[in-house]
Amino acid sequence: MVNVAVIGYGIVGSGVVELISRNRTSISRKTGDEIFVKKILDIREFPGDINQEMFTRDPQDIYNDASIGIVVETIGGVKAAYEFTRRAFETGRHVVTSNKELVAAHGPELLDMAAEKGLSYLFEGSVGGGIPIIRPLNQCLAANEIKGISGILNGTTNFILSKMKNEGEDFATALKFAQENGYAEANPSADIEGHDACRKIAILSSIAYGEFVDCRNIHTEGITGISTDDMEYASAMDCVIKLVAMSRRAGKMIMARVSPVLIKKNHSLANVEDVFNAIVVSGDAIGDAMFYGRGAGKFPTASAVVADIIDIVNHVSRCEKGTWEKKPYNNVIDIGEYVTAFYVRTSVRNSVEAKRFISEVFKGVEFIRLNKPGYDDDLVFITQPCKEKDFYPKVDKLKGIGSIRNVLSVIRFGDGFTNGN
Ligand SMILES: NC(=O)c1ccc[n+]([C@@H]2O[C@H](COP(=O)([O-])OP(=O)(O)OC[C@H]3O[C@@H](n4cnc5c(N)ncnc54)[C@H](OP(=O)(O)O)[C@@H]3O)[C@@H](O)[C@H]2O)c1
Repeated sequence: MVNVAVIGYGIVGSGVVELISRNRTSISRKTGDEIFVKKILDIREFPGDINQEMFTRDPQDIYNDASIGIVVETIGGVKAAYEFTRRAFETGRHVVTSNKELVAAHGPELLDMAAEKGLSYLFEGSVGGGIPIIRPLNQCLAANEIKGISGILNGTTNFILSKMKNEGEDFATALKFAQENGYAEANPSADIEGHDACRKIAILSSIAYGEFVDCRNIHTEGITGISTDDMEYASAMDCVIKLVAMSRRAGKMIMARVSPVLIKKNHSLANVEDVFNAIVVSGDAIGDAMFYGRGAGKFPTASAVVADIIDIVNHVSRCEKGTWEKKPYNNVIDIGEYVTAFYVRTSVRNSVEAKRFISEVFKGVEFIRLNKPGYDDDLVFITQPCKEKDFYPKVDKLKGIGSIRNVLSVIRFGDGFTNGN
């Protein structure tokens, strides 16, 4: 019999407790052992909940119970979660979590702590919710040199962008709908500003390249500046706008960024709609492999957490060593060095003069026209790929020029691997 304690009985934690109970028979068939939740710790009260006898508010009830071998941390955030995790390792417990914030911030240290004690720290649920991606990266694709990863890693923003594209809603309306229907949190900033996707690509990159990729070094932009007009132009160019997190190996360094991008409608990520997530991993042996599914939610995420518990039960004497080497320097290339093509939407007073000026500043641009009423003052163009540090000073030159009223939006063109595709 394996006893588990669950710290944090919210969406994911309650899903874990329910799944372990509901699928006990089939799980024990796979482990040869029975898994029980013995204690649940949460700061909230849950009157009427069927698991009353398991609840505690005192962490010592968990740490002093020698029969508990695995701690599930599903409270989220960094500070308290870090303390609970550290204490679990100190007292000889394996830890499973869905907490990407903690893994992205303290992954190397917690993995080392676990390895020193011969314990496991597993976090399949922290990226992609129910999509198996961490174990495939660590195990099934272990024979590959991973060249790059790109993905739609945040369901909330993908839901909002899908709604804007399919129903012509503006960002604020789509966000409000998402909040009212449980697809976005009351404080949505971590999602809409790209930080959630950033933590996830940092975790995936750390696994893929075997060295810690600090999310604080990854250039991150969200979707708050995307308008329905940009969606119209994207459609006219046979493209869609997606929030794409990407990273790739570049010699001893790593390229990584999170930003909205225009990708062609036949791109593998273009048809990933609503709350779904997808991750494309490029390996030297496998080529491209795509992982697709529900990136969040009670049972999809609980499915990943319980799978980690099962893994610990099955391999309890075979704990893996943490391998996120922490480099003594910033191993992420400065965004200014990335070569990118850009979509630029301007508002102009005189289209002929503006075109002439833009063509002088940016060589080889392609102008895009939208044959729809209401877009007469817009002038949109796609640049040739160039270093980002060379692009932005040129954009600044457009601002305040007589024929150009304003620069309305700038969006990267392409997924960061093949610019423009
Ligand atoms: N929800 C998803 O679909 C999903 C998917 C993938 C990953 N995740 C990650 O999984 C983690 C949990 O997410 P969730 O959505 O399940 O969160 P949640 O619904 O807010 O549940 C967290 C629970 O832990 C409690 N808690 C907070 N601090 C505590 C503390 N110091 N001691 C004891 N209990 C504490 C919370 O109480 P209060 O509400 O009073 O704070 C709440 O009951 C987060 O890291 C999240 O990013 C979530």
